[in-house]
Amino acid sequence: MREQRAAMLGFLADNEERLHDIPPLDTINPPLWEVAHVAWFDEWFCLRGAGDPKRALPHEPRWPEADAWLDSSRIPHRARWALPALTLERVSAHLVRIGEDVEAALSRAESHDAALDPFRLAMFHQAMHLEALAWLAQTLAWPSPAWVQQDPLPSLAETVVVSRSDLVTLEQDGGFAFDNEIGATCAVSAPVRLTPLVRMDAYARWVEAGGHRRATGQQAPRYWRRGGRREGNHAGGPAPSDHWEHRLFDRWLPCDASRAMVHVSAHAAEAFCRDHGGRLPTEDELLVALSGQGSAALADAGHVWEWTSSVFSPYAGFSPGLYRDYSAPSFDGRHRVLKGGSSAAPHVLHHPRFRNFFRPERDDVFAGFRMALPL
Ligand SMILES: [Fe+2]
Repeated sequence: MREQRAAMLGFLADNEERLHDIPPLDTINPPLWEVAHVAWFDEWFCLRGAGDPKRALPHEPRWPEADAWLDSSRIPHRARWALPALTLERVSAHLVRIGEDVEAALSRAESHDAALDPFRLAMFHQAMHLEALAWLAQTLAWPSPAWVQQDPLPSLAETVVVSRSDLVTLEQDGGFAFDNEIGATCAVSAPVRLTPLVRMDAYARWVEAGGHRRATGQQAPRYWRRGGRREGNHAGGPAPSDHWEHRLFDRWLPCDASRAMVHVSAHAAEAFCRDHGGRLPTEDELLVALSGQGSAALADAGHVWEWTSSVFSPYAGFSPGLYRDYSAPSFDGRHRVLKGGSSAAPHVLHHPRFRNFFRPERDDVFAGFRMALPL
């Protein structure tokens, strides 16, 4: 948690001159609000006892206005742009102070799950907001945040076979689990081959063939352009004049085989799969493969979130956890499960059981895909 707080503070400091010029988009938050909200969440669960069923009311916050301003369930999205009291100095000092108090509380906490879960939840929540800050940086063409990994894809990722398996209930493996992960079941109705992640060069060929336009009505994916000034290396000599580039944060890079396709909607991914004789994997197929139970590990997992064909829905016996509004409001039939983990997400979120969820039309998040092909 200390590292994640330091990363947030570094992000605010690095972008100080940009913090007050944030367009009011539905997909992002003002970063000062976002970091102050993280401090509110840490305080709410780790210091104010809000997750403790024995407490009727949480303790008072350090900032009297905190619940009205910073509880994401209470403050309307657009109102987050109208909080001039959230200055860099005030928000940074608040996060540091809350962080010190959380560390002191953690050092006093008993070492059983019920006592530790609020701290674990806060850690995961921080990680999610770090990724949200990264997609803000991508949306607004800011420099790459320090925590974003830039590792190239392995050049030889193999196809993985997932065998048929009957419905099983997965045991909890100890430690923290989100409410939507408890009672997980898994079944694969027929054996299937999972391809490596679809890469930028393959997607560019489909763009050239008109596939993306047929699927979306758009000539090219969000953040792509044709030609332009080169900044990256292109193995094999000069690029053709009609090469494509994609913007990653504030840099334009070639759409080549070294990068997984990213910032693509589930709808466009599905159309690509259809045109190539495949489909998106199900959540359970990816769960099996990510757990290392297939013919080989998915060597290229963890670069982008991977769209699935599975609607985000509760397992039998679901009940909301400490963070009551985390999952349940998104069990609306309009969200898809994503698996794996992205290079912009801290590694605590790269867990085979973790279920990310977004609406399938989102093409601004760090989501890509692989294909499921018949055996
Ligand atoms: Fe949050």
